[in-house]
Order: sequence, then structure tokens, then C-alpha cells
Amino acid sequence: MSIALSFVKGAAIVAGGTGGIGEAICRRFAEAGAPIVLVYHGNQSKADTIKADIEAAGGQCDTFKVDLSDTAAVEELFASARQLHSHIAHVVYAAGPGFDFAKIGEIPPEQWKYVINADVNGAFNLIQCAVQQFRQQGGGNLIGVITAAVECVPKADIMSAAPKAAIEMLVRGVAKESGKFGIRANCVGPGWINAGLGKKGMEEKLSPEQVEKIRKTTIPLQKFGEADDIAYAALFLCSQQAGFVTGQTLAVDGGAQI
Ligand SMILES: NC(=O)c1ccc[n+]([C@@H]2O[C@H](COP(=O)([O-])OP(=O)(O)OC[C@H]3O[C@@H](n4cnc5c(N)ncnc54)[C@H](OP(=O)(O)O)[C@@H]3O)[C@@H](O)[C@H]2O)c1
Repeated sequence: MSIALSFVKGAAIVAGGTGGIGEAICRRFAEAGAPIVLVYHGNQSKADTIKADIEAAGGQCDTFKVDLSDTAAVEELFASARQLHSHIAHVVYAAGPGFDFAKIGEIPPEQWKYVINADVNGAFNLIQCAVQQFRQQGGGNLIGVITAAVECVPKADIMSAAPKAAIEMLVRGVAKESGKFGIRANCVGPGWINAGLGKKGMEEKLSPEQVEKIRKTTIPLQKFGEADDIAYAALFLCSQQAGFVTGQTLAVDGGAQI
């Protein structure tokens, strides 16, 4: 006997679809039957590759280049998505700017402003349009990919945790205000993931000895996560089997924040 997840039929808008984590989310949601609206910022060739792969496997994927911090551009994105799809079942925020590890006393103020604007205002623009869309159509699932670091203040990584803490509160706010409209809103909190920003940080900013120390001493499961670990958590939270789950953050971090 096997148990399969089931989903309300409709498209999935994945913001940050060209990221290490967002790519896996696009691929797994497509496998689950959702037409994908892949939103990227600069990496058109990766967007094209993901689209081609999904379509070759019999799925549907349309790509849109959007700066999420531009409110009008996000509104246009939803208008285009509505022309393509009669129902948008899922909206996933898996985007975020790149930045260097730095202690609070050493963060250049301009970099702080850039990160807060790109991440918090970008997420707000997407979330606000998602709520309006979901209310019009009578429900939907919102996912915020944040960070497990919101559970416990990380050292030299506040630019990851602070904006994601704001996004977590926004998502919980949606759950509280809009549950009565059939909207569920949850977050997934990645720990150290061997993809995207996490992989780049481990390869470029840390020595192999530091990476090994992190693995052995800070992660109870003693391994790094994969992008698919985050994608499957998001898929579960959007499934009908998670139909009574809202306003929650599922940390997917090998137990690092226990
Ligand atoms: N990977 C990890 O280990 C890990 C752990 C904890 C938390 N997280 C968080 O999870 C999120 C996704 O992580 P990731 O590793 O997949 O990051 P990533 O590989 O760096 O991908 C970031 C994504 O965000 C997009 N993006 C950046 N600025 C944007 C903007 N202004 N408008 C629209 N899109 C924009 C990028 O688009 P283009 O590439 O097309 O420019 C890309 O698709 C990040 O915010 C990260 O902080 C990651």
C-alpha cells in the first residue's frame, strides 16, 4: 500500500525559481502536476533550462523576469499569470539577495538597506498579490522559504535571519487574517543546504575544516540538506494532507536548531 499526496488543481508561482532551492521547488511541484510560473531575476539561462526540462517531461512552465522589490512589476506578474491560468493554487517565495557573512558591527549600512529592501519588500509585494489573488478565487497556499536560523540568533549571519524573521511574521499574519478565506500560509526553514547560497558559502567563504566542524558539531543528523529536502517540505505543506496546518514554520535543518 502506498500513500500519495493530493493537491488542489492549479498553477504554482515560484519566486526565486532559478535559485538552488527554488529550482528544486519548480521541478518537484511540476512532477506533482502543477503548471509552473517560474519567476527569476537575472539568470535567464537557468530559467530556460528548467523550463525546457519540465516541458520535456510533459509539464508546463512559463518564465518571468521580475525584480520582486518593484511593486508594479509584481502586479503585472500576477496579471500575466491570471491570463495563463484559471486558478493559482500555490505561491512560493524562495527568493533572496546574496550577501557576505558579517557581524552586526561590521555590516555596511548600504548593504543592510539593500538586503532588507530586496528580501522583506520583495516578499511583501509577492505575498500581498498572492493574498488578493487567493481571496478572489476562494483560497490558495502560500509558502515562505525563510531560514531555520530564525529559531536561534546566528553569529555573523543576521542579514539572513532578520529579514526572514520579518517574512515569517508576514506569513503568519496571512494565516491569521485570511484563514477564513481558505488561505493557508506556512514557512519552511532551511538549515545548511548543499545548494544555492548555502553551497556557495561553504565553497567560497569557509575552509573544508570549518565545513566539517559545522557538519559534525552543529547538525544532529551530521549531514547537510539537499534542495529536495526543502522542496518536499513545501510540497507537503501545500498538499491536501496538510489541510489543517497553517501559520507554521517547518524547520528542515537536520536538527541544528534544537
Ligand atoms: N541554501 C541554503 O543553505 C539556505 C539556508 C537557509 C536559508 N536560505 C534562504 O533561502 C532562500 C533561497 O536560497 P537559495 O540557496 O536558493 O538562494 P540562491 O541560489 O541565491 O537563489 C536566490 C534566488 O532569488 C532570486 N532573486 C534575488 N534577488 C531577486 C529580486 N530582487 N527579485 C526577484 N528574484 C530575486 C534569484 O534570481 P536570479 O538567480 O535569477 O538572479 C534566485 O532565483 C534565500 O533567501 C536564502 O537566504 C538558503
